[in-house]
Amino acid sequence: MKFKYLGQSCFLIHFGGKVILTDPALSANPIANIELIKDINPDYILLSHAHGDHVADLEDVMKRSDATLISTYELVSYYGEKGFKGHPMNTGGKWNFDFGTVKVVSAVHSSVLPDGTYGSNPVGFVVWNEDSCFYFAGDTALTMDMQLIPLMCPALDVALLPIGDNFTMGYEDAAIAAEFIECDAIIGCHYDSFPYIEIDHKAAEAVFASKGKKLLLPSIGEEVEF
Ligand code: NI
Ligand code: MN
Repeated sequence: MKFKYLGQSCFLIHFGGKVILTDPALSANPIANIELIKDINPDYILLSHAHGDHVADLEDVMKRSDATLISTYELVSYYGEKGFKGHPMNTGGKWNFDFGTVKVVSAVHSSVLPDGTYGSNPVGFVVWNEDSCFYFAGDTALTMDMQLIPLMCPALDVALLPIGDNFTMGYEDAAIAAEFIECDAIIGCHYDSFPYIEIDHKAAEAVFASKGKKLLLPSIGEEVEF
């Protein structure tokens, strides 16, 4: 599986022969390269919650692709009313797609659409097939529920965790999360996009290293393979 970091919580993921995009919102991200999303044609979009820094480009991408939206019942219904196709899920549920299994896990955060519509509870996703398993946490605090992930899902190869603090857990808590989920390789996200979430990269890497974990901070547009 391959992860291309597009900034904030947006990743382009090649998994199980399909292309999966997470939380597309490059136009809401001052440090993103908007060109990177223009040619993207995902098969699926995983949407963690409805804040603007996660949904800003969702409708544009859906309009010019044949992507299926995987998110909560409320958000799939909201975009369904606009004519977009989706697969509704909710926390605790899993479903077998043609690329693998998706399990929806809890996230502690808030969620409202940019137009004020209720945005459902925020969620994270664990995605796996016979070869690989990753966790996309969305926006979340450190939560004891993360300890359930190793009990419910195959061993994680990599986790995409927010590390920017202020709106989500910071890197110190994310390093504890890496222990809770029993995952040694973390790709950091949700940092540096705005002044509130700027972080010291070296300090973040050191906290993970002190726990025997590897924090990867790919630059925008960079691809990481597992
Ligand atoms: Ni958020
Ligand atoms: Mn966010």
